Amino acid sequence: MAAAAAAAAAAPPPEVKRRRRIVLFPLPFQGHINPMIQLAHILHSKLGFSISIIHTKYNLPNPSNHPSFTFHPISDALSENEEPLLDPILTIKLLISSCTLPFHHCLSQLLCHHRVVCLITDAIWYFTQAAAEEFGLPRVVLRTSSVCSFSAFAAFPLLRDKGYLSNRDSKMEDEIRELPPLKVKDIPLIKTKNEEDVFEVIENMVAETKKSSCLIFNSFQELEGPDLAKLKQQFLMPIFCIGPLHKYISAASTSFLTQEMSSISWLDSRAPKSVLYVSFGSVAAMDEEELAEVAWGLAESKQPFLWVVRPGLVRGADALPDEFLSEVRERGHIVKWAPQQEILSHPAVAAFWTHSGWNSTVEAVCEGLPMICSPFFGDQMVNSRYVNDVWRIGIKLERGMERGEIRDAIARLMKGREGEEIRERGVCLKEKASLCLSEGGSSYLALDGFVDLISSFDESLV
Ligand code: UDX
Repeated sequence: MAAAAAAAAAAPPPEVKRRRRIVLFPLPFQGHINPMIQLAHILHSKLGFSISIIHTKYNLPNPSNHPSFTFHPISDALSENEEPLLDPILTIKLLISSCTLPFHHCLSQLLCHHRVVCLITDAIWYFTQAAAEEFGLPRVVLRTSSVCSFSAFAAFPLLRDKGYLSNRDSKMEDEIRELPPLKVKDIPLIKTKNEEDVFEVIENMVAETKKSSCLIFNSFQELEGPDLAKLKQQFLMPIFCIGPLHKYISAASTSFLTQEMSSISWLDSRAPKSVLYVSFGSVAAMDEEELAEVAWGLAESKQPFLWVVRPGLVRGADALPDEFLSEVRERGHIVKWAPQQEILSHPAVAAFWTHSGWNSTVEAVCEGLPMICSPFFGDQMVNSRYVNDVWRIGIKLERGMERGEIRDAIARLMKGREGEEIRERGVCLKEKASLCLSEGGSSYLALDGFVDLISSFDESLV
């Protein structure tokens, strides 16, 4: 009864404008905001939908960078926190518990004033499925990471049943027969105080996604075709790979930190294909010892490098040793945040040492850049295994941050025959990434299919 009353209260009065509108609700982190806002721009500028973005006050994107959209900030527990939380799972749980009611209220207000075709939310905002059902609104899920890592998350109950999740320390190198080529050490877990919290978030994300009307990925058929086919057997709603989304609009307009343009002028002064670009994304954190290993690995490689040391990357002091700074003065450039997409397409850049966040991975694939992978947590574990073993376009560091392995991987990638072969496979994949967006390509057709689906939602609106 309460649900029916709420839905009736939310029904638009007859005078409501009839323009087709889509409401989007991104998770407020860099790697999630970028693809969601990119999707919003595609829906608006290519397909003519009006766009409303519901957003937490925490990490609110700058509305003036997106004047065609309306922004609807909702309160959340994080924006009131003085200190950022370091635990990603506790952060997500706090966001979910504090946003559920404000989101519901905001959506009901929007439904009072607009003809809304559907709601598109990040997969991690799993509580929005119940609200969408209550209001009779189709919910589309944008999973901002890879198909392969989502499949690994969806397999958690199986991994638990088969015993892969218990006593992991003793069997890290064991292969997971049911999910080749993953090993136990690649299970996309996230360190947190109580591991049950991770399972709760992941299992809710998967279960509520299964109830949604459609699932979309920032990926493409030629990259993840086999995993996509398997996922379609388990998840019965329409699934579309419509990426790479950043090829439509760059991430610069959604960057929370100022991108230091000195990186580009520094790259302009370097020889073609000579520089290693190093960045571990917007969330990953390391301790001071790991920072020192990264620094000395770079120094011992003797290669030119451009390194993003973001505020918060280091738990503790992020000052780099003077000895290191003087050793690399002639060939290293360090910035706090960079225009990553411009860097990856710069002719001076030869390779990318990454944490294997999905946006970084897709951006590198689109430039045909070979990667060194140092995953920290979650989906990064699976993405990096696929870069190393399946697509074979990079080298995964298997021993964490260890200067000898770092130095050797840089040499393998930037000097030897092995590096050339990796680079050739990367160039092949770059061509496929570019073709999939052109007329008749896989993502082009998937976007058409997605739009047809949304249009069918629209037709079913009374
Ligand atoms: C997070 C998770 O860590 C990641 O595993 C998940 O796949 C997405 O959410 P993040 O760590 O920020 O993302 O990594 P990533 O997905 O690579 O996204 C980072 C984005 O920031 C990219 O679009 C990249 O171009 C941009 N970026 C990064 C910059 O603009 N400047 C930089 O200096 C570094």
